[in-house]
Amino acid sequence: MEGFTLEIPTTIYFGNNIVEEALKKESRYLSGNIMIVTTGRSLIKFGYLDALKKILDNLPHVEETLIFDTISANPKLEEIQRAVQVGIKGHIHAIIGFGGGSAIDAAKAVAVGVGTAESLERFLLEELEPSDKTLPIIAIPTTAGTGSELSKGAIISSLVHQMKGGIRGNSILPKAAIVDPHYTWTVPVGTTMETGFDALAHAIESYVAVKANGWSDMISEKTIKIAGENLPLLIENLDDHEAREAMCYASMIVGMNLANIGTCLPHRMQYAIGAKTDTSHGAGVAALYPSWIQKQYDVNENKVKRIIYWLTGKQISSGEEARKEMAIFMQTTHTLKTLTSLGIKKEDIPELTLKVTGNIGNDKLSLKTDIISSIFYDSL
Ligand SMILES: [Fe+2]
Repeated sequence: MEGFTLEIPTTIYFGNNIVEEALKKESRYLSGNIMIVTTGRSLIKFGYLDALKKILDNLPHVEETLIFDTISANPKLEEIQRAVQVGIKGHIHAIIGFGGGSAIDAAKAVAVGVGTAESLERFLLEELEPSDKTLPIIAIPTTAGTGSELSKGAIISSLVHQMKGGIRGNSILPKAAIVDPHYTWTVPVGTTMETGFDALAHAIESYVAVKANGWSDMISEKTIKIAGENLPLLIENLDDHEAREAMCYASMIVGMNLANIGTCLPHRMQYAIGAKTDTSHGAGVAALYPSWIQKQYDVNENKVKRIIYWLTGKQISSGEEARKEMAIFMQTTHTLKTLTSLGIKKEDIPELTLKVTGNIGNDKLSLKTDIISSIFYDSL
């Protein structure tokens, strides 16, 4: 077995109704003024945001809790710059990212902007790594899937620069991730399935990745099995709390693979789709999956066979069968999409292909010529 290094610097709290307890334990980061960065809406409607603010306000060293709740589904550089201004004026000392992956990614970027006082464009466009002046971040996810609470990336879109990219570095790893499944009880079916599929995609991609190791394979296997069992149960009954908890757990454990192993081409390619169409991360990744898994079979036959078996119980012996079984699973869980349905046209593909950046070498498929454009065309 090949050797590997494993880093899990984030303290993880997992369980129902644990937020107050966990925040008390992390109170060394929570003093003076702090700021909650959130996408708002449903968290306000269900009273979750008020309840969180109350908990924070009652902590012994917290003076004031500011709330910045105008972050959109694909967080924009312009929104984050506004949040940074509010944070600087408010003299904040820590950031709480509260919501789905967008809220947590935005929180990370705000922590960089306020803490380092550098222009965020430098991190996004010049791939400058944020220094340890970045403010401490505590992530409280309210969906099960993105894994952003354990990752060292913040994915941001810029309207001005017409791009979607990442700010990456160890300093934006949250100090703590507080994963409380009860927040997901009220998540609607569309978001439940899309974020659940994203968690599954993290497991599959980190399993076939060049950087995969024995430990990360164990996490991938467990996550794929959990998703294979529980996403179909949630389509039948959204109030199945055991299935919700299982998906929260799967999403959280596979977040460790995001930080240590990374993902493959579907994730690299989705950023280009999201930047062009402003469609959700999960939808863009899903649209590429049938074609990508078929092609992945050629370079990772045994691993793709296992993925399909764990997910569906079916034995396969070709890339076409991998594609067919993946598509059936996606149909059952209402996650099957095409690029056309996301607003991509054939003539957009050359430009989209040029916009794919990041570590594509983590996918064995990247050695094949024109593989990115061929997956795009095949996914229309
Ligand atoms: Fe993802």
